[in-house]
Amino acid sequence: MTQDEMKCDVANSALKYVVPNTIIGVGTGSTANFFIDALATMKDQIIGAVASSLATQERLEGHGITVFDLNEVESMSVYIDGADESDAELNLIKGGGGALTREKIVAAVAEQFVCIADESKLVDVMGEFPLPVEVIPMSSNYVMREITKNIGGTPVLRKGFVTDNGNLILDVGGLKITNPKELENKLNSIVGVVTNGLFASRGADVLLLGTQQGVKTIKL
Ligand code: 5RP
Repeated sequence: MTQDEMKCDVANSALKYVVPNTIIGVGTGSTANFFIDALATMKDQIIGAVASSLATQERLEGHGITVFDLNEVESMSVYIDGADESDAELNLIKGGGGALTREKIVAAVAEQFVCIADESKLVDVMGEFPLPVEVIPMSSNYVMREITKNIGGTPVLRKGFVTDNGNLILDVGGLKITNPKELENKLNSIVGVVTNGLFASRGADVLLLGTQQGVKTIKL
């Protein structure tokens, strides 16, 4: 099976977590795109969706799925999204697509977070994938200096990229993330940081992992 076939497989298997007659949250990226295409087959069974990015909104609407502004929504049964890395405790690195802030907000509102990923994303220690950090544009050099001085790793400005919120992304390479919650909080305390791609305070509740042997379900 190719990586895309595993992504497609796992995206299809996430349909069973969609709660009929509710609004669900939908993530961003290639695995989430497979999920959106699968969701279209049962679009009449849900009220609609909240999108974690403009790209996801466009794809959902392209399938005729109603997209709600999060401020119109009081509760969400489930949030389904991919990840760049997950550890065994279902802490995640997200934001490879730059949508981390909206993803984190939607995940915070949802009752359940189901992460969908192919087997390459499960790692012993996170950090091989550079950790995305969304920053207010005028703070980017300051935040890079603070990370280098007080946190470690090598922050690199993501060139030619602006988030849906009008901000910039720093990708922090060379980290070995042994205490994800602590690092998440430390990064968030630097002035100018909007949010970072560590989903540890609110990690996934379920990880569906697409493998060569089929989809595995990992729950804590
Ligand atoms: C986007 C994300 C994605 O979920 C993450 O980058 C995984 O993407 P893909 O499913 O394409 O491998 O966090 O901001």
